[in-house]
Amino acid sequence: MLALPDTQARRRFRTKLLAWYRAHGRDLPWRRTTDPYHILVSEVMLQQTQVDRVIPKYHEWLTKFPSLEALATAPEDAVTKTWYPLGYNIRPKRLQAIAREAVANHEGALPADEETLRSFKGIGEYTAGAVLSFAFGRRAAILDTNVARVLFRVFVGRGDPKAHAMRRHLWEVSRAVLPHRHVFDFNQALMDFGATVCVARKPKCLLCPLARQCRSFPVS
Ligand code: ADE
Repeated sequence: MLALPDTQARRRFRTKLLAWYRAHGRDLPWRRTTDPYHILVSEVMLQQTQVDRVIPKYHEWLTKFPSLEALATAPEDAVTKTWYPLGYNIRPKRLQAIAREAVANHEGALPADEETLRSFKGIGEYTAGAVLSFAFGRRAAILDTNVARVLFRVFVGRGDPKAHAMRRHLWEVSRAVLPHRHVFDFNQALMDFGATVCVARKPKCLLCPLARQCRSFPVS
C-alpha cells in the first residue's frame, strides 16, 4: 500500500517549496491575475506548449478576445488563426466551446465549483483544479506531468510513475500536501519547481531544498 505523507512531512514540504518559490519562482503574466477566463486561457495554452512560446500568444489572445463573451461570438477562423502556431489545434476549439457554454448557461462566467466546471466539455480534472485554485482561491489540487514527477520523486520513489493506480495516488498526495493558505502560490510553485529544478532529465538535486526529504535523492 502506498501511504500518504504524514503531517510533519506535509508541513516541511510546504514550507520549503513556498520559500523556494518566493526566492526563485518565475514572474509570469498569469501569476498576476485571478481572472478565471485569463487563467483558463493560460492553462489550456500551457498544457502542451512551453512557457516561452505561450507568453506572447497569451497577450495576443486576450487582446483579440478579451472576454468569454468576445470569444463565444468570434468567427471560428479568427480563433483558429490567432491560435497559430501553437499546435494541437483542438485546443482553440475547446476554448471557444467552453466560452459558448459559459455564455449560454452560466451568465458569461466560469462557475466556481468543481462539479459545474467539470461538466464543461474540455475542462478535465487538471484544468478544474487550476481554475479553482488560481482564479477562485479554492483549496483544489492539481496534477500535470511536472507536478506528478515532483510528487512521485519526493514521496514515492519506487514503482511505475505512469501506472494508473500511481496516478490516482499522486492526486491524493497533491491533495494531502496542499496548504490551507497560499494555495495559489503553492500550486504555481509545484509547477515551477517541476519545470526548473526537478526536471525530467538531469534534475538539479544538488541545489534542491527538498533533497533531505526526497525518496529519490540523488537522481543520477
Ligand atoms: N504549466 C501549466 N500551468 C502552468 C503555470 N501556471 N505556470 C507555469 N507553467 C505551467
